[in-house]
Amino acid sequence: MTLIKDRAVIIGQGYVGLPVAMRAVHGGYDVVGFEIDPTKVSALNSGRSHVEDISADQLGEMLGTGRYRATSEASDLAGFDVAVISVPTPMGEGVPDLSYIESAARTLAAHLSPGATVILESTTYPGTTEELVAPILESGSGLVAGEDFQLGYSPERIDPGNPTWRLENTPKVVSGMNPRSLEAVQGFFDRLVDTTVPVSGTREAELTKLLENTFRHVNIALVNELAMFARDLGIDVWEAIDAASTKPFGYMRFTPGPGVGGHCLPIDPSYLSWQVERSLGQTFRFVELANDINEHMPDYVVRRVQALLNDHAKAVRGSTVVVYGLAYKANTSDARETPARPVIDQLLRLGAEVCLVDPHVAAEQFPSDATPCDGSPDDLADADLVIYLVDHDDFDREAIVASGVPVLDCRRALSGPNVQHL
Ligand SMILES: NC(=O)c1ccc[n+]([C@@H]2O[C@H](COP(=O)([O-])OP(=O)(O)OC[C@H]3O[C@@H](n4cnc5c(N)ncnc54)[C@H](O)[C@@H]3O)[C@@H](O)[C@H]2O)c1
Repeated sequence: MTLIKDRAVIIGQGYVGLPVAMRAVHGGYDVVGFEIDPTKVSALNSGRSHVEDISADQLGEMLGTGRYRATSEASDLAGFDVAVISVPTPMGEGVPDLSYIESAARTLAAHLSPGATVILESTTYPGTTEELVAPILESGSGLVAGEDFQLGYSPERIDPGNPTWRLENTPKVVSGMNPRSLEAVQGFFDRLVDTTVPVSGTREAELTKLLENTFRHVNIALVNELAMFARDLGIDVWEAIDAASTKPFGYMRFTPGPGVGGHCLPIDPSYLSWQVERSLGQTFRFVELANDINEHMPDYVVRRVQALLNDHAKAVRGSTVVVYGLAYKANTSDARETPARPVIDQLLRLGAEVCLVDPHVAAEQFPSDATPCDGSPDDLADADLVIYLVDHDDFDREAIVASGVPVLDCRRALSGPNVQHL
């Protein structure tokens, strides 16, 4: 017996929710994309995508099926068979902020009917699905989770800008609060992705996501700290990383950078350490150490800038620094928690003129005291130093090197006599 029918609602139409909505349409569902931001709703319904991984053509195709529309009207949720919650889970004052999940669950509860399935997809600490979401859904609907309706958790593994591993070909971990719920959650995602990976409970699925991101966070911190020591020892860390990467087993490549950003790495491991501290009274030392190292990488970048200017008998004050990249990673417009911001803020405080180049990020998001630039020959001619923070494909690397301006390249994307790597 299949538990899933055909009307899906996806709560939150951001980096995660919009691709899920698109795959659900592809899987044959009638999809309502529920989104509280009315500007996103009207843009989506008129074919404008705010998520790079979904092109205007793809959005147009999805709208053209007549089986997708975005809405802010809660009444449009009535009669859903399956709902996916993909809303933000930030940290507020060092504590997980689950208010978006709570609000989404309250909205869903009013429209929950017997036989429906609710799936939490936001990243969060283990226990959220059953301890937070289930009671809200039950009290708002009068129904019993696991009996009258199905409830599960499936973490998102989307990697914005990754052309190889997309939602549909990345294995999807699925879970339910009981076997019937697992069957419903897996049945839904089997129609969206190539491979589903069932785990025995929602807490295991919630922990899976935090494990994956904590693993990345810790390994990035490891190479970041190594990069700082290697430089002081006079050793090229990048060459060592390349050489180590030739080992076909037991090694995974991570590269140094100016710090971590986005919605995941600066936040998710802290959800886990917060829960360990709250529930067990213990410190998750790996997470604390990785936070400490990664959060201080922007300071290190600024120290390297000071040293490089010093080599040219210049001070930061009064120097013009062209910064390439505000987004937290290449080829995305996502500037949430970006390490570029503390780098730029410190340079401005030290008295530099900062000229910022990032065609992917909307100018409204630029720090107000930085001057938006396009990296033209004139911009480079006036520069005392370039910091290459993000390796967007459309940056003109050759022009940067050819300008002869001293460059601090935090991605090892450039090479030339005027280029220093992080
Ligand atoms: N961005 C990523 O690469 C990524 C990857 C894996 C997991 N995640 C996780 O997925 C979740 C969502 O992240 P995102 O990057 O899609 O965030 P996002 O900010 O891009 O999108 C979330 C959307 O939800 C909307 N929203 C908030 N509250 C709402 C509500 N009550 N009802 C309807 N809409 C609401 C917001 O307006 C926003 O458009 C987070 O928990 C995040 O950690 C993100």
